[in-house]
This record gives sequence, C-alpha cells and structure tokens, in this order.
Amino acid sequence: MNISGKRAVVFGGTSGIGLATTQMLAAGGAMVTAISRNPSKAGPLPANVMTQSCDVLDGAAVEALLNNLGPMDILVSAATGGGRAIGPFLEMDMDGFKSSFDKLWGYANVVRYGAGHVTDGGSITLVSGAPARNCRPGQIALSSVGNAVEAMVRAVAREVAPRIRINVVSPGTIDTPMVPVQGAEREALYDKMTQDNLIPRAGTANEVAEGILFVIKNGFVTGTTVDVDGGWLLG
Ligand SMILES: NC(=O)c1ccc[n+]([C@@H]2O[C@H](COP(=O)([O-])OP(=O)(O)OC[C@H]3O[C@@H](n4cnc5c(N)ncnc54)[C@H](OP(=O)(O)O)[C@@H]3O)[C@@H](O)[C@H]2O)c1
Repeated sequence: MNISGKRAVVFGGTSGIGLATTQMLAAGGAMVTAISRNPSKAGPLPANVMTQSCDVLDGAAVEALLNNLGPMDILVSAATGGGRAIGPFLEMDMDGFKSSFDKLWGYANVVRYGAGHVTDGGSITLVSGAPARNCRPGQIALSSVGNAVEAMVRAVAREVAPRIRINVVSPGTIDTPMVPVQGAEREALYDKMTQDNLIPRAGTANEVAEGILFVIKNGFVTGTTVDVDGGWLLG
C-alpha cells in the first residue's frame, strides 16, 4: 500500500512508538488521527495530524469514535491500556496480574469496533512485546498478555481475510516515555535490561515504527508477528 493520501488512525499515537508511527505516516502523506486519553502530550504535530481523546478501555467510547471517524485505510493500536505487573508469579498480586490484561482489552475494543471501518485492502496493526516468546524473570504478566495479543491477531487474521490484513509488531526494550526515570539512572536501567541482547542497547521508537510501516505497506503480510527487538529472542 502506498500510504500517501490514505486515512490512518493510531490509538496510543501521542507518545513513544505510537507517536513515531503517527509522525512516519504523516511524513509519508497519510492523514492521521492520533488518539489517547491526554493527546496534548504529543506536542506540536504536522498539519495532516489531528488528535482525539479516548480511553481504549471504554468500549462504547471507542465504538462511537470509530463510527464518527468513518472509513480508514490504516488502523494501528500501540496504546498500553493500563499498568503492568512485574515480579515472580508465585508472589504476584492477582488484581495486578489481571489488570495487566487491560492492554489486551484495549486492543480487542479497537479491533472489534474498528475492523468494519477499515477499507478493502487496508490493515490493522497491534504492538505486543518480546517477553511473549522469551519471558525473562518477573515478566510473567507481560508474557501472558503479549501471547494473548499475538494469538488474537493470528485468529482474527483468518476471519478478516482476504478483505483486510492484521499483524502485530513485537518490540524489545525501547527508549520511550513509558520509562519515567531520567539521566544516568535511565542509562543504567537500559544497559541492564539489554545486556543479554545480541544488540545490547535500547531500540528507538522510530525503529519500531519502521516495522509497523513495513506491515502496513506490504500487502502480502497477514497474521504475522514482526520482531524489532535487538535479538532479545536469542538472548
Ligand atoms: N517501550 C518498550 O520498551 C516496550 C517494549 C515492549 C512492548 N511495548 C509496547 O509498545 C506499546 C507502546 O509503548 P510505548 O513504549 O510507546 O509507551 P508510551 O510512550 O507510554 O505510550 C503509550 C501510549 O498509549 C496511550 N494510552 C495508554 N493507555 C491508554 C488508554 N487506556 N486509552 C488510550 N490511550 C492510552 C498513551 O497516552 P495517554 O496516557 O494520553 O492515554 C500513549 O499515547 C505498548 O503496547 C507497550 O506495551 C513497549
């Protein structure tokens, strides 16, 4: 697909990976709607980007917004949805574990209420995470949710084919505002988190957005997970 002049909707498109995707789509000439709960965090955006406020966990609001936006060629969700429980499973607070699945419920709302608005030949792209297929200590919740996202994409791909495509991009450790600490503490954290990767550094949001743009543009890719993870899976 040539993205120039296409209509794109990016949930979570106001920060990190989603914002990089918004900017890359806009630079390619797409008309983009970037959505999150507080979209002003995106800062200045190109003229062909508009923003909307919506919580992906509010199914009725997601449905109403997508009905209002009308047909779109490109639908992406990188919205984290909520928090993530970290730590050993046998010590885990089960409410925290369950709420980690907010990411899945947000994605499910976007796919359920968005797929019917995606034009023939268009695509949906979601974002999972490397722990899905190589879970490191303390990442049981991340791994469980990521696997659920990837399984949902493979299952829905059959249902929406051949009219539209759906894929998932799986990042490793990426330097985004998701990590709040700054300065030397941030550098030390990323060094520690990536020391076992084949490429021992944090990736950039742009590197993941390039993976997202690949599955959007390539009309022969569906039901696939594209890893952009610095070799996490072999670490
Ligand atoms: N960064 C990493 O190392 C990494 C690694 C693996 C996977 N991932 C995945 O990649 C995706 C993007 O992460 P990121 O690092 O780019 O995070 P980020 O910079 O924190 O951006 C998350 C975006 O999601 C939006 N969002 C969160 N909850 C929302 C909700 N309930 N409703 C609507 N929008 C919501 C946020 O905006 P508002 O707060 O304004 O709503 C923001 O625009 C996530 O699914 C994350 O799990 C990230």
